[in-house]
Amino acid sequence: MKKLNIAIVGLGNIGSYLYKYLNDNKKILTEKNNCSPFIKYVSAKNKKRKRNIKINKEKWLNNYLDATKLKEVDLIVELIGGAEGAAKKLVFNALKNKKHVVTANKALIAKYGDQLAKIAEKNKVNLEFEASVCGGVPIIRSLKEGLIANKISKIYGIFNGTSNYILSNMDKQNKNFEEVLFSAKKLGYAESNPAADLNGDDVSSKLKILSSLCFNSFLNDNFHIEGINKIDKEDIDNANKFGYKIKLLGYAELLNDKIYQRVHPTLIKKDSYVASIDGVLNAIIIDGKPVGQSIIQGEGAGPAATTSALVSDISSILRGNVKFPFSLSNKERKRLKFKNIDDRFFSAYFRFEVIDKPGILSNITNIFSKNKVSIKRLVQNPNRNKKISSIIIITHKSRDKSLSKILKEVAKKSYIEKKPKLIRIDDD
Ligand SMILES: NC(=O)c1ccc[n+]([C@@H]2O[C@H](COP(=O)([O-])OP(=O)(O)OC[C@H]3O[C@@H](n4cnc5c(N)ncnc54)[C@H](OP(=O)(O)O)[C@@H]3O)[C@@H](O)[C@H]2O)c1
Repeated sequence: MKKLNIAIVGLGNIGSYLYKYLNDNKKILTEKNNCSPFIKYVSAKNKKRKRNIKINKEKWLNNYLDATKLKEVDLIVELIGGAEGAAKKLVFNALKNKKHVVTANKALIAKYGDQLAKIAEKNKVNLEFEASVCGGVPIIRSLKEGLIANKISKIYGIFNGTSNYILSNMDKQNKNFEEVLFSAKKLGYAESNPAADLNGDDVSSKLKILSSLCFNSFLNDNFHIEGINKIDKEDIDNANKFGYKIKLLGYAELLNDKIYQRVHPTLIKKDSYVASIDGVLNAIIIDGKPVGQSIIQGEGAGPAATTSALVSDISSILRGNVKFPFSLSNKERKRLKFKNIDDRFFSAYFRFEVIDKPGILSNITNIFSKNKVSIKRLVQNPNRNKKISSIIIITHKSRDKSLSKILKEVAKKSYIEKKPKLIRIDDD
């Protein structure tokens, strides 16, 4: 029986789960792949740290970079994390030394994926990163293999479980942002520093990788990014009244030969599929030809789901074929036009908290007409006790540049009590 020698570097949440999984399931994986996965070496930062797995002493490397030099190592699984430092050094050296690499490191692939793919291709080894995007949702393998026949025009959905948990529980449990964030941290659904989950950066890194796979292009940083930090309970309630849910959605779409990449809170119709995805789940929708629409959903993070993705990558390497990391040879990947969203059309939700005085509503609507944005619905909710009024406006489809201009212009007015809101609506 053929055997593949593996070095696992990083034995934290994910690495220790993978170690145990590979040992417990070696027989079935060997049968399915006709090659045996053998964990030859491991490494972590602190050899003496207490771990919940038993590892023979002889498996420990003296230095994590030895994995890249030892002749008997075929595959390195990088589970350190971070775009720089040890993880970067390990993966670059591994590929240069003709070792296959499997990684769960979204930060590293989003930043250095193009360079790494070039080295992997030159040295005819695999660089696999299914676990770097949406954990247990096999989106990368689906794009590279299952959906290979398709010309993809759009990929979108829910790519961050933490922000989806917060938005759906603000709605269901009738709680505000801070209350739900607190319980998310307590339940382990949000990290102690959840900034990247809440400000949209986590989604943009994932989408950057997927967008490049969908459109056969190099990785591109042209993104519009907004997070959920500014969404409050009133917005969720208003959305409900208008027949929408608010979700943090990521989109990469090809329109008239240009690619738009964006992440922002979005009002989406209550009866749509995406609106029904609650809690920590991820859900990805792909529009392609000839397939039509495909959807995959599942757990986006955590050791179990991430191990499922890692084992898929390891199995692919066990089966022996060398593939281009981004589906196409480096020479065939394109430099497409990535546009910012200024000239894309959206309908939008605006919320203005204003002093309750005559003349203000007409001043606001004048600013809309001056910017050629037509109003579809307008609701005014006065709060006589506080002497303020909440004005909600839903617009027809308009140029994004004009929508943002209105927001800025109204924000400067002396009658504004609270920073105005603009949330784009998905009614494509
Ligand atoms: N956690 C998730 O749900 C999840 C989901 C998808 C993807 N990922 C990705 O998976 C990767 C690992 O995440 P994790 O949650 O397992 O992280 P973690 O628990 O912090 O584990 C990191 C591991 O890296 C080791 N390490 C740190 N610096 C090192 C160095 N200089 N040399 C060798 N080893 C070093 C640490 O060693 P010690 O144990 O000795 O400190 C630890 O074992 C990251 O790229 C992450 O983004 C995680």
